[in-house]
Amino acid sequence: MTEILCVGNLKGGVGKTTTATQLAFNLAYKRHLKTLLVDLDPQSNSSTILLNTKLNFDKKGNTHAKASLMRAVQDEDLSEALVNIYSNLLDQLDLLASSSDFYAFPRYLEKKFPDNYEKRIHYFKQLTDTLFNKYDFVVIDTPPTISVITDCALYLSDWILVVSQTQQSSYDGALTYLKYLQNDVIDGLKAPKLDSIGILLVMLDKKSSLDQAVLQDIKNKFGKENILPTVIHNMNRLKRWGRTGITDKGYFDKQALKVYDDVTSEILERIKQNEQLTSQQ
Ligand SMILES: Nc1ncnc2c1ncn2[C@@H]1O[C@H](COP(=O)(O)OP(=O)(O)OP(=O)(O)O)[C@@H](O)[C@H]1O
Ligand SMILES: [Mg+2]
Repeated sequence: MTEILCVGNLKGGVGKTTTATQLAFNLAYKRHLKTLLVDLDPQSNSSTILLNTKLNFDKKGNTHAKASLMRAVQDEDLSEALVNIYSNLLDQLDLLASSSDFYAFPRYLEKKFPDNYEKRIHYFKQLTDTLFNKYDFVVIDTPPTISVITDCALYLSDWILVVSQTQQSSYDGALTYLKYLQNDVIDGLKAPKLDSIGILLVMLDKKSSLDQAVLQDIKNKFGKENILPTVIHNMNRLKRWGRTGITDKGYFDKQALKVYDDVTSEILERIKQNEQLTSQQ
């Protein structure tokens, strides 16, 4: 069975892409799960990170998809936008690559289904079904908006991981986002499976008392059980990978990979617990 996890927050620059790429990399490279990272953000930052990652492992690797994501949608064949990032006997990581022309996606859906918003979202789910079913795990990176793109992503997902910085504006963004998830996506669009896997707190500045105060506020507001135990600190290596792609060589690489390895364990454990609960019902 495929698990589909969407990474989101309506606020920009809070660590969604870093988290999505780290999770996808870990699921494939360390957990040996056949994994697909889906970049639904026309900024295409996670595509850049994974394509650079590919070149770090294989200098001569092919980083070109057959077509852009927008073209693949128009052709009704998403596999045209696939790039294999890493594969050996055990592991496979693929990327559904985005590019700037994906900005046209909302307009495209609007034209195709002029008077029915739900149809636009159901259509995208249908388009992804066959491809996504080929993977153990699909991780979706979303743009910092509330839009038809995020609605499409959330509607077809099993899980939402809300990423929040330990800063006031990001916390406010997470609150608004959670309300949107409940009111608009779960109750409004009737997303068939969407459930929260928890809130991941990132970019904590250990020395900042303000960050510590916001961290406490978030814990009080959402309850400890709704927050993943691992909190990601500010780490230069994670920032650098935004430019260079992921590497796995020295001490600092291993240290940065380890924190997201812990987050991956927590996510997999929550999914397992949920499956056990459902099978008991
Ligand atoms: N734990 C961290 N420590 C240091 N820098 C980080 C960390 N996590 C992310 N960053 C950096 O913060 C910036 C924003 O992160 P990222 O691109 O992941 O956010 P985003 O939410 O995807 O942004 P957008 O909304 O624009 O898509 C990037 O430069 C990234 O490298
Ligand atoms: Mg991003």
